Amino acid sequence: MVEAMITLLTPVQTRCQSLQRGATAVLGFPQVEQVAWEPPSGSPVACGGKPSRSAGLTATRWLINRVSTPNSCTDAINRVSTPKIMKILFLDQSGKPGGAELCLIDIAKPYRDRSLVGLFADGPFRTLLQQHHIPVEVLTNQPIEVRKQSNLLQAIGSLGQLAPLLTKVIKIAIKYDLIYANTQKALVIGALASFITRRPLVYHLHDILSKEHFSQINLRVAVNLANHFASLVIANSQASQQAFVQAGGHPKLTAIVYNGFEPKNYQTCESNIRQLQQQLGLEGKFIVGHFSRLAPWKGQHILISAIAQCPPEVTAILVGDALFGEQDYVQQLHQQVAALGLEHRVKFLGFRSDIPQLMAVCDLVAHTSTSAEPFGRVIVEAMLCGKPVVATKAGGAMELVEHGINGFLVTPGEPEELAQVINTCLQQAEITATIASNARTSASQRFDVTAINDSIAKLLASKFSKYRTYAQATENRTTEDTEDTEE
Ligand code: UDP
Ligand code: GLC
Repeated sequence: MVEAMITLLTPVQTRCQSLQRGATAVLGFPQVEQVAWEPPSGSPVACGGKPSRSAGLTATRWLINRVSTPNSCTDAINRVSTPKIMKILFLDQSGKPGGAELCLIDIAKPYRDRSLVGLFADGPFRTLLQQHHIPVEVLTNQPIEVRKQSNLLQAIGSLGQLAPLLTKVIKIAIKYDLIYANTQKALVIGALASFITRRPLVYHLHDILSKEHFSQINLRVAVNLANHFASLVIANSQASQQAFVQAGGHPKLTAIVYNGFEPKNYQTCESNIRQLQQQLGLEGKFIVGHFSRLAPWKGQHILISAIAQCPPEVTAILVGDALFGEQDYVQQLHQQVAALGLEHRVKFLGFRSDIPQLMAVCDLVAHTSTSAEPFGRVIVEAMLCGKPVVATKAGGAMELVEHGINGFLVTPGEPEELAQVINTCLQQAEITATIASNARTSASQRFDVTAINDSIAKLLASKFSKYRTYAQATENRTTEDTEDTEE
C-alpha cells in the first residue's frame, strides 16, 4: 500500500511547480508562506529531485485539487530571514492516555503558547492536555478502523475514511511550521499532510516495529512513510530504533530520546503512604504493584501465577484498565485469580491517576511484558519513587535496568523466575533498598524532563535551522534578561 501511495504521490512533484500557485481555491485555504526546510533524502518532495515512478491516480488528484500548494522550495529558501519561533502541530490518534500520550504532554508543554495537539479521538487524554494548558482539538469523532494487526484490505478500506480527517489536518497544518506525528495513524495522516502542505514531518516512534507487535502491512506502511516523508524519527529507545532500522528504516533519520520525567512528582510523604495503605486494606502485606493497561502482552497473568508461588503475605495490586478493547483478557485475569484462590491477594484497582502515591505504597514494582517493551515508563516511574523494580529482559527495559545494580531482570513469560525475585526482595530487604536507592539517583539524572526536552529542542533546531525552538527562545530571553540586569 505504501508503494501504491508513494506511486500515487510521486507524479505530483513533477507538476508541483505549476500547481503550486493555482490550487488554493478549491477548499478556500489561504495562500500561505512557504516553510524552508531540508526535505528528507529520497523524498518525492525533495527540491529538484526526480520522481521515481510515473503514474497518476485519482486519489492524488483528489488531494492536490483540494489543498494549497505553496511556492517553490528555492523561492522559500531565498526568503529566509531571521529565525522565527517554531509553531508545531502535534498529531496523536488516541483519546486515551497511554504511555505515548503521557510522553507527548511533556514534549508539547514547552511549545504550548504556539502549538496545537490534534487528536483523532476524543477522551480523557484531551482533558489531561487541557489541564496542562496545552491547546488541543479533536479532529474527528469517527474511529479509524485500522488496528496493529490489520491486513492490506482493511488498510486500503480505511483510506476513504481518512479523507475528511486528512482535509482537516491539511487546513490546520498550513498555519504551523512543523508536523509532529506521535503515533502510527498520526504518521499516515501527517505524512500526507506534510507532502501536501510542504511542512516538515517529525515522527516520534514509541513502538517496536516488529512482526510480534504489527502486521506486515502496518510495518511497511510505517517504515516507508517515515523513510519518504519524515525529516527526523525520534525513537523512544535503542530497541525501538534498532527495530525500525531492521524493518528497513533509514538509520540516518533516527535519533534516540528517552521519555522525560519530573523527579519531584514522584515523592510522596509518609503519612499519605500509611493512609493509602489503610484505604486499600493492605497494612502489613508485602505489596507487589503492577502498573499497566490490561493487555495480554503486558503480562498481568504472569504476575498472578508468580503470586501463587509466593508466601501468603505477598499481595498484588493491578493498576490500569483495558484501554484498547481487551475485555476478554480482563475476564481471563479474573478467572485465573478465582481458579488460584487468590481473591484476597490480587486487587484490581482500575485506571488511576495517583500513580506515584500507589507506587509509594508498594514494596516492589513488577513489569512483566511478554514481548519487548519499547521503553516502559512505569519502570522509570518506579525507580523515581525509590522502589525496587523487576522488569522483563527484552527491548527498552534492558536499557533502563541493570540486573542487581538498579533493579532486577527476568526472562519474559516465566512466572517461576519472577516468584524467585519477589521472594528475594521479601527476604533481603536491605540489599533491595540499596538497589532501589541507586535506581532513584540514576533515574533522576538520566530521565530528567528538562534535559530531555532540551535534547528534543536541539534536534529540532539542528534539522530546521530557519527556526528557533521555543526552548531556545526562552533560554536566549533569559540570558538577555540576565545581561540587561547586570548592566
Ligand atoms: N498509568 C496511569 N494509570 C494507570 C496505569 C498506568 O496513569 O492506571 C500510566 C503509567 O504511570 C505510565 C503509563 O500509564 O506512565 C504507561 O506507560 P508505559 O510506557 O509503561 O506503557 P504503555 O501502556 O504506554 O505501553
Ligand atoms: C508506548 C510504548 C511504551 C513507552 C511509551 C512512551 O506506549 O508501548 O513502552 O514507554 O510509548 O514512549
